[in-house]
Amino acid sequence: MCGIVGYVGKDQAAPILLEGLTKLEYRGYDSAGIAVRDGKNAPVTVKEKGRIADLKDKIGPVESIVGTCGIGHTRWATHGAPSETNAHPHHSDDDAVIGVHNGIIENYEEIRDKLKRNGYRFYSQTDTECIIKLVDYYYKKYGEGPLRAISRAILRVRGSYALCLMFADYPGEIFCARNGSPMIIGKNGKDAFIASDVPAILNHTRKVYYIDNMEMARLKEGSIEFYNIDCEPLVKTLTEITWDAEAAERGGFEHFMMKEIHEQPKAVEDTIHSVTDDKDKIDLSSTGLTAEDIKAIDNILIIGCGSAYHVGMVAQYVFEDMTGIPVRVEVASEFRYRRSPIAPNTLAIIISQSGETADSLEALRKCKAAGVKTLAIVNVIGSSIAREADYVFYTLAGPEIAVATTKAYSTQLVANDLLAIEFARVRGNLTKKQAAALVKELKTLPDKIQRILDDKERIQWFASKFANANDIFFIGRGLDFATCMEGSLKMKETSYVHSEAYAAGELKHGTISLIEDGILVIGVCTQSEVIEKTISNMVEVKSRGGYLMGLTTAGNYNMEDIANFCVFIPKTDEHFTTSLAVIPLQLMGYYVSLARGVDVDKPRNLAKSVTVE
Ligand code: F6R
Repeated sequence: MCGIVGYVGKDQAAPILLEGLTKLEYRGYDSAGIAVRDGKNAPVTVKEKGRIADLKDKIGPVESIVGTCGIGHTRWATHGAPSETNAHPHHSDDDAVIGVHNGIIENYEEIRDKLKRNGYRFYSQTDTECIIKLVDYYYKKYGEGPLRAISRAILRVRGSYALCLMFADYPGEIFCARNGSPMIIGKNGKDAFIASDVPAILNHTRKVYYIDNMEMARLKEGSIEFYNIDCEPLVKTLTEITWDAEAAERGGFEHFMMKEIHEQPKAVEDTIHSVTDDKDKIDLSSTGLTAEDIKAIDNILIIGCGSAYHVGMVAQYVFEDMTGIPVRVEVASEFRYRRSPIAPNTLAIIISQSGETADSLEALRKCKAAGVKTLAIVNVIGSSIAREADYVFYTLAGPEIAVATTKAYSTQLVANDLLAIEFARVRGNLTKKQAAALVKELKTLPDKIQRILDDKERIQWFASKFANANDIFFIGRGLDFATCMEGSLKMKETSYVHSEAYAAGELKHGTISLIEDGILVIGVCTQSEVIEKTISNMVEVKSRGGYLMGLTTAGNYNMEDIANFCVFIPKTDEHFTTSLAVIPLQLMGYYVSLARGVDVDKPRNLAKSVTVE
């Protein structure tokens, strides 16, 4: 999410910053900005909403910005809509401190209140402005210099971030710090470069230092110094980057899809943390939903396309089970043209990663025209669906580049879980304690997803055996059926292998006639209430020649007697198993695609954002 570039040295900074930002545009592209200093003069700052090209247009001839020290940023909005005002760099009231920031400051509201009590005013909705002004506050209050001010601020904020700052009193110097978000320092002779990702500086140097969490750096022409949080100097060794430029943009992964699969623990964690506190209490105020709104709901209507619709299928089970509210799930393209009644007091939930999908947007408008309230679960801030809905729950997946969704899907799942838990608590279906226990369990998902990812080679081995398959079937019941729908879509869209997902009990009503020797059937079995039933269906398939993969929860080891290949996922509350069971299926799709030589990030005929009907 977002990209940072910095430069100090003998050359003009602006062209280097703009070139670096262009390389990082895939990290965020709703606004961008640079600030460049020429000696002791105040920095020249230019910011613009939109792409780097828009920023370049605004700047005009790059020679117009003079100075050999500067910082730049390309933004993927998290706090505050994409706009010139919310674009980075941000500055303190008197420009004493100016800076850019990646990541999320979780306690920014608390910091903003503290600073307001100390006379600070705020011009943007960003968490970045809060941290810049917090550094400014400590800088002025204690007069101990930039490093101490930064370390005091770091100790005060919660969250993951990378920070890059210039101080009016220190011309020709850049200070940076990080915790959680990536940041590297490049060196080429006396020139120093800062980047959130390698591609930004690869044209200038391959020699980099890595800053670790809670560490700081001080850069000027001919000098790069590192410090720990106590401002004690650190010695670091230069590392040589051997990646080619294109691979570097993918962070060392072969494809964006794999990179995004691996970003899921972080994306899920960020999304959960965006509406929960340390005591596992949910606060939906950022969505605009109040307890009165929640109590007034008689029905829920969930609408989406493709994977977003599959999230809706999961959400239906979870909402109905936790809240008792009847839930209907609709494919947007079908819903918008059907004359189906929408009952009063319905909450329509529109799920969309891009927030621009034409059918989902029209479905939202249809719900609004019917006079019911609408809640958008969207990943892109300021997108059309987000703007038109009454309430918005932003998922924090960050930019998703691969056409097949993985991390956005996972964040949509937990967003729905959090809504269902809070609805159930507000309406008295769950006690505070029960709701907190469920949130606590949700917070274990990132680690559990990581554990599944750590074992991915097993899936790769198995997937390679089925690279020549013509058909693959996915069967499951209840929530597992919803997981099958997503697993099957991942398989067909990324590998071009025909696949179908079936409610396991439906097989024998016709489709079982397709089962013949060697056909791979993946049985998803995580729901204790129906596991025996699905296993019976798997046995039926096996006796007709099907080759079985069993995907189940640790402990269900009898699966090994039935399936030819088993994958066990860690235990969790059964409402949340989809978040884990989908991971091996994403990996299956990816690896089968790889083995078949398909362009997995850009499968044929597909587009990332479907803005036409
Ligand atoms: C599948 C996939 C699509 C999208 C669908 C909706 O991997 O990505 O099925 O889920 O096109 O897109 P959004 O969520 O942007 O509305």
